[in-house]
Amino acid sequence: MSDSTANMASPTVSPLVSQLIQHIQQQPQQRITFADYMDWVLYQPGGYYSDRPGIGPTATPQGQTAGDFVTSPHLCADFGELLAVQLIEMWERLDRPEPFQIVEMGAGHGLLAVDILRYLSREAPDMVLDYQILERSPGLQRSQQQQLKTGLDPQLLENVHWQTWEDLSDQSITGCFLSNELVDAFPVHLVEVQGAERQLLELYVQCNDAGFGWVLGELSQAALAEYFERFALPLEAYAEGYRTEVNLAAQSWMEQVARKLKRGYCLTIDYGYKAERYYQASRRGGTLQCYFRHRFHDDPLVNVGKQDITAHVNFTALEQWGEAAGLETLGFTQQGLFLMALGLGDRLQSLASDATDIRAVGHMMHRREQLHGLMNPMGLGNFGVLLQAKGLRDHERSHPLQGLVVPPLGG
Ligand SMILES: C[S@@+](CC[C@H](N)C(=O)[O-])C[C@H]1O[C@@H](n2cnc3c(N)ncnc32)[C@H](O)[C@@H]1O
Repeated sequence: MSDSTANMASPTVSPLVSQLIQHIQQQPQQRITFADYMDWVLYQPGGYYSDRPGIGPTATPQGQTAGDFVTSPHLCADFGELLAVQLIEMWERLDRPEPFQIVEMGAGHGLLAVDILRYLSREAPDMVLDYQILERSPGLQRSQQQQLKTGLDPQLLENVHWQTWEDLSDQSITGCFLSNELVDAFPVHLVEVQGAERQLLELYVQCNDAGFGWVLGELSQAALAEYFERFALPLEAYAEGYRTEVNLAAQSWMEQVARKLKRGYCLTIDYGYKAERYYQASRRGGTLQCYFRHRFHDDPLVNVGKQDITAHVNFTALEQWGEAAGLETLGFTQQGLFLMALGLGDRLQSLASDATDIRAVGHMMHRREQLHGLMNPMGLGNFGVLLQAKGLRDHERSHPLQGLVVPPLGG
């Protein structure tokens, strides 16, 4: 049992915790998969994402918010602006469709949307744009609406619509599906390798008066065993107790994107690896991490509903599932390289020549720090960037997209 969970008998447990206990107790074996638990504590009413999660810095310049983690759009507008450079090239490759549709999935507090929309209205005024947001959290939808209302001209705001997956017809989107740190927030199954025969078991969550705890059991679905076969993961090479995650929700998501896309691209940015690196034998504890006020740890059974829980993304799986569903893999790269290819290096270089007095030097240092943050190989710069496409004509794929062209050394 997890020792730091609130005492379940205490009258002070939150409504989320008491409903979750009830849900667990109603199950035939009084246990739920970790994926079910993660879905509850992140997305059900009272869950981490249900209201206004702490995405952002520890404190604003006014000293207000206390965020839990920072994503690229929260670092600076350059991230969204450089993605917009890539979107303009996509629009041109597709022969400037009217409208060019951008579907942002999991838009957080809406900062990325504001930065992209502002840049596009400035740099591609001829683009007839339809910007759709798919957001699971009602609290974040409200936050996005507020952010876009204050950050955009009313005219630009008219191009933005909040949708659900059900609102989108199959084969209806011509443009680009886009996400940053979406897939790592999907609920994952946890599995563990046990015994001399290296049997694959699943971790379930149960509860008693002391708190939530773990119990091992048989796999809840055959898809979990099939996943290990499909990606040729070497169970026999894993040590006893090897624990990892399987993100089956990512498969349904990839299939939805492929179905809804008529012609265009899917751009996915997230932390993660190709399968062989993700599931290497030395990564014995998996990649599950919890974020609480800019500290991370690996116990998802504490701070219930108050902390973010994430797992890295298996980009090989996204590629293969995408291909099986009709998407073509255009390329996989790292965020640092991707943004450099789109002009991050030029932005860095221009900073040096801008600094003419002491205040300008201070500003330049700050900007430099932000830009380096986006490409830091120990952090955001190491994120994976996957580009997939559907329905491209031969001439539209004759040369790689700008973001996939490796910038020359020193350039
Ligand atoms: C880690 S946050 C990233 C937010 C934002 N993209 C950013 O970079 O700051 C994950 C986002 O995905 C949303 N989300 C999770 N599952 C989703 C789903 N199935 N459909 C749409 N949005 C989802 C969450 O509510 C949240 O907005």
